[in-house]
Amino acid sequence: MSCCHADFAAVEGSDKGFTVGMPTFTFGSGVLAEAGANARELGMKRVALFTDERMKSSAHAAAVLASLEAAGVDAAVYDGVVIEPTDASLQDAARFASEGRFDGYVSVGGGSVMDTCKAANLYASHPAEFMTYVNAPIGAGRKVPGPVKPHIACPTTSGTGSEVTGIAIFSLRSINAKTGIISRRLIPTVALIDPDVAASLPKNAVAATGFDCMSHALESLTARAYPRRANPAQGIDRPVSQGANPFSDMLATEALKSVGRFLVRAVNDAADMEARTEMMYAAMLAGIAFNAAGCHLPHGLSYAVSGLARDWHVAGYPEGKSLVPHGMAVVLNNPSVWRYTAPCCPERHLHGASCLGAETRGAADSDAGEVLATRVIDLMKATAMPNGLAALGFDASHLDALADGAEPQYRVIRNAPKDVSRDDLTALFRAALNYW
Ligand SMILES: NC(=O)c1ccc[n+]([C@@H]2O[C@H](COP(=O)([O-])OP(=O)(O)OC[C@H]3O[C@@H](n4cnc5c(N)ncnc54)[C@H](O)[C@@H]3O)[C@@H](O)[C@H]2O)c1
Ligand SMILES: [Fe+2]
Repeated sequence: MSCCHADFAAVEGSDKGFTVGMPTFTFGSGVLAEAGANARELGMKRVALFTDERMKSSAHAAAVLASLEAAGVDAAVYDGVVIEPTDASLQDAARFASEGRFDGYVSVGGGSVMDTCKAANLYASHPAEFMTYVNAPIGAGRKVPGPVKPHIACPTTSGTGSEVTGIAIFSLRSINAKTGIISRRLIPTVALIDPDVAASLPKNAVAATGFDCMSHALESLTARAYPRRANPAQGIDRPVSQGANPFSDMLATEALKSVGRFLVRAVNDAADMEARTEMMYAAMLAGIAFNAAGCHLPHGLSYAVSGLARDWHVAGYPEGKSLVPHGMAVVLNNPSVWRYTAPCCPERHLHGASCLGAETRGAADSDAGEVLATRVIDLMKATAMPNGLAALGFDASHLDALADGAEPQYRVIRNAPKDVSRDDLTALFRAALNYW
């Protein structure tokens, strides 16, 4: 790609390096049975195993527990993880971790479980008032002072990539929006990615998490390039997510090709293990990519949507509480964002569209936003996603509140390839109300 955005050449005073963090990962059918040997290798004798209420009685958790037991590693199970965690649920998990004095952590579940485990490990290892490590300006953004205990992450969904990231996301109830904690210290030590877990995933979870993966890859590809990032810290203080770089480009490209070929099949046929396996792999690739490159507008806007939506429930997710699955909130902000950011780096938007399977031959730079938006909309229709934010109950009267919720997300929003004003935020939410 030769557009100016892709030019990673140093500019005056810019960072000349970029850093990519990732765990040691093992990918393959049946690898959950390797949990015990890995735990022993890491010196674990007594671990906390984090999972959620549904996963607690799954074959996946049973396989991990059996493997730990066979290796002589004691495990105390914490199944109080809240799906789409909150500050309160993370603090409850942290209390469990602190009281247990564990020498290691194992997580078996989706992003909600893995993120909760990361936060519990952090606060048990380095006790502090809860907002201490939360991203500034919402929290104090204090650097994690030292290593945390080893963590073996076993993902059971195919999208967040949390098994390879140093990120823990939660809803902060006082501001009705999501934020997070980000540190290289939070990257799991080992990820065991067993695609067999995807067989039991509800259709809607495959769709939502698959779009999360797609957006991680598209946002990595179109993020501001690392020499021009807003946070200039270098060396050991270099931020975890530094903007587009050659390594994240490569992984994002491969992830998008898999999403283009396999997402619809994986959603619509639970028996299609080839497609579900490819989505597990794509999620991991896109996770490494966005951890290093960073997300931008679709994620920043999604945090306000999930915080403000009311009375929304999706089959396959826990009953009895309003919840917009993370990947759904993200994809609803995709087409409008691509139309807005494409003029900054049209070749990257066309490249993303082409990887996703769109016909881009003959497309001019000025078509890039529309070509990518159209391909994403086609995928949304094929997987029964809602037609924009209006389907969740939002209308023009909510645009201000949505923009209020997105504004504090500047850590991710300023990673966008252009500067974003308050008016731009409102216009983006307006454009996301209806797509077809
Ligand atoms: N840390 C990161 O890098 C990162 C990245 C993206 C998203 N996130 C966060 O991750 C969370 C969402 O995680 P998620 O989308 O993986 O889903 P989830 O963990 O919220 O789980 C969704 C539902 O699927 C169920 N489930 C999980 N695996 C299953 C399986 N194999 N079979 C049957 N049911 C299964 C769960 O019990 C739950 O009911 C959000 O809070 C989001 O903000 C974190
Ligand atoms: Fe995400």
